[in-house]
Amino acid sequence: MPGSVAALLAEIEGVGRDASTGGYRRFAWTREDAALAGWFAAACAARGLDLVTDRCGNQWAWWGDPDAALAAGTGPGVVTGSHLDSVPQGGAYDGPLGLACALAALDRLRGKGFTPARPIGVVRFVDEEGARFGLACTGSRLLTGTAPPERVLALRDAGGVSYAEAVAGAGGDPGRIGRDEQVLRRVGGFVELHVEQGRGLADLGFGVGVGTMIRPHGRWRVDLAGRADHAGTTLLADRRDPMLDLARLVLAVRESAVRRAALATVGRVEVTPNAVNAVPGRVTAWLDVRAEEEAQARRVLGDLATVGFGAVEESWTPATWMDGPLSERVAARVAAVQGGAPRMATGAGHDAGILAAAGIPAAMLFVRNPTGISHSPAEHAEPEDCEAGAVVLADVLADLSSAPAASTPASTSSDS
Ligand code: GLV
Ligand code: MN
Ligand code: MN
Repeated sequence: MPGSVAALLAEIEGVGRDASTGGYRRFAWTREDAALAGWFAAACAARGLDLVTDRCGNQWAWWGDPDAALAAGTGPGVVTGSHLDSVPQGGAYDGPLGLACALAALDRLRGKGFTPARPIGVVRFVDEEGARFGLACTGSRLLTGTAPPERVLALRDAGGVSYAEAVAGAGGDPGRIGRDEQVLRRVGGFVELHVEQGRGLADLGFGVGVGTMIRPHGRWRVDLAGRADHAGTTLLADRRDPMLDLARLVLAVRESAVRRAALATVGRVEVTPNAVNAVPGRVTAWLDVRAEEEAQARRVLGDLATVGFGAVEESWTPATWMDGPLSERVAARVAAVQGGAPRMATGAGHDAGILAAAGIPAAMLFVRNPTGISHSPAEHAEPEDCEAGAVVLADVLADLSSAPAASTPASTSSDS
């Protein structure tokens, strides 16, 4: 099925795939990331799109000249896109579905002879997951100035490589990283299509839904100190074993999450020296907390402090609403195409949320995931739902890109 979303996804299915589990490892600024960036660039070139890489490494492909449109008063452009990086052992759809649907949507529009009155852009954001350096959405945070470059460039991965070194190693220039006004002014509105990361649409019986908001979420680090010692000679009474503290921490997190009606996860730990025959000298645990309201998430941290766990905040992303005119307009098109437009909040972070928080009108489309599972090889979307996503997205882009400049999302929306 050349040109289908499934066919586009098949073109990258081998990149970073663990053959034994089917999970993906596509960390930012790695060989796999470069292969995916190369695929995106080639797909855009094959479609005659003009590709620009911004100061932060995000790739923007344009159908139409956004600067000329701005000068002529027919801009700014309408942008769609997502990311291609993954969590460790991630699924095939989280990120790539948004880009495959974007390319397929453009193919559909062109196949129908459509000509946009405003330029249409497709963006690949770098490092959405933050799996390598710990901070999510660095591409969009750096672009919008939401994260200071000096802070991000100093982040280190598990092997001690800094963000700056990784960028340089991939051929980028860390010295240029920072807010990119020239790129931002081209974006009148952003619509990100993403696989749903729960079972909402499966239960409702719709292929595509519309985002309303991203729930507040954050990441914390908890350092648990102990004393490394011999597993065969150190009496239990003489040990200072931080693994016991880790066990207490995990249980305390769960108990507090239940009490506060939050979601809290200890999903990553580092054990030093991580040897079967050594009492650990140190354990570092990372905690992810999300909730409907910021206060609920903060109470979880308060509960942990009460039982002796100090946590260092590594990132905090406030609630982000996507319920302005752009989302309403997108929802109207979704309803027209599929006979209904379920609205849904999400607990997952997205580049669309970072853009929205920075004042760029942003909306999200979700595609049904029958397993409801994500950040796992079990994440799934049926080919017909992927195609439905492209059909809806094409319709949305046609609508938004045919608007005269005076009624563009940028000039009318209060999404933030
Ligand atoms: C991104 O997928 C997140 O962790 O919310
Ligand atoms: Mn994800
Ligand atoms: Mn994602």
